[in-house]
Amino acid sequence: MKVCTALRLGAALVCFILVAQTQSQDCFCPTHVRGVCNGNPPNCACKLPIGPDDVPVDCTKLIPKCLLMKRESLPAKGGRRPKPENALVDNDGLYNPDCEGNGRFKARQCNNTETCWCVNSAGVRRTDKGDKNWKCQELVRTFWIIVQMTRNSTEEVPANDLKKAIEDTITSRYKLPVKHVATVELEGSMIYVDLKQNSSELSPNDVDIADVAYYMEKDIKSDPFIPLENPFAILVNGKNIGVKEPLIYYIDEKPHEISMKRLTAGVIAVIVVVVVAIIAGIIVLVLTRRKKGRYEKAEVKEMNEMQKQLTS
Ligand SMILES: *[C@@H]1O[C@H](CO)[C@@H](O)[C@H](O)[C@H]1NC(C)=O
Ligand SMILES: *[C@@H]1O[C@H](CO)[C@@H](O)[C@H](O)[C@H]1NC(C)=O
Ligand SMILES: *[C@@H]1O[C@H](CO)[C@@H](O)[C@H](O)[C@H]1NC(C)=O
Repeated sequence: MKVCTALRLGAALVCFILVAQTQSQDCFCPTHVRGVCNGNPPNCACKLPIGPDDVPVDCTKLIPKCLLMKRESLPAKGGRRPKPENALVDNDGLYNPDCEGNGRFKARQCNNTETCWCVNSAGVRRTDKGDKNWKCQELVRTFWIIVQMTRNSTEEVPANDLKKAIEDTITSRYKLPVKHVATVELEGSMIYVDLKQNSSELSPNDVDIADVAYYMEKDIKSDPFIPLENPFAILVNGKNIGVKEPLIYYIDEKPHEISMKRLTAGVIAVIVVVVVAIIAGIIVLVLTRRKKGRYEKAEVKEMNEMQKQLTS
């Protein structure tokens, strides 16, 4: 009996040591849940499935946004359940981008059709759309990104502690040097983070603020790229300050070239909708009035008849 327990204990211990050893030897991808790594640290070879391909990636830093967007826009490898032909997906600004070998965006992007446009270094459209002859001189750098978010609760926390906690999360989770977190501003339940990094400040090995903002947006939307063992948290005195509703603004080193024509088209559309609504309202009003009128007349008629009957 005693021997048995001792044996079992021994086996469990051996097993534990084995697990611990294999775990310490395994490469894994801390920056993407779907990253697959082979080899032994520090010589890890990692790949990320993107559409039908496995693309080599460097999991020691954030995966470039262009590759992430490409991955999200392409159907996954293997048999996914087929979707009905008319099924719509909310792609909020998502397209299948063309990436450079280093994972950065190509200045010119086109969709499957013959429509092309120019993007900034965050992959956001900064010109009008044109045909396939559309030219983009250079990839214009997004040097300033504003990440806006809302606190889950209005519970009071010391402002400076909260600012420090946000800065700590950004620098430790995304490995962004603290000098690029220009300001953290609080306004009621709103939080504004300014990330700044211009062309002359960006060296090839640095993480790009566009990648940081994309990771952060997904983290706030509770759809993180980073494995769940390392959850997103803004800790003030050990308490997680929940945030939601991220909104990201991109400011480029050169003003964008989106003409206002499209905006006015939008405004016209709104005006048309409002006018149509008003006309519809008036028609409904007139129709109901008319019906009421007829009803009233009928009533009067009946009354008259009754009176006649009474008098006769
Ligand atoms: C490409 O862009 C054109 C023009 O904006 C649009 O009508 C079309 O739906 C887009 N196609 C895809 C696949 O995004
Ligand atoms: C880039 O940013 C640094 C630090 O904010 C600043 O000193 C430098 O002048 C900027 N360079 C350009 C080209 O804007
Ligand atoms: C904050 O709210 C969002 C959305 O409602 C939710 O997903 C998230 O888990 C919340 N975070 C915390 C820490 O409560």
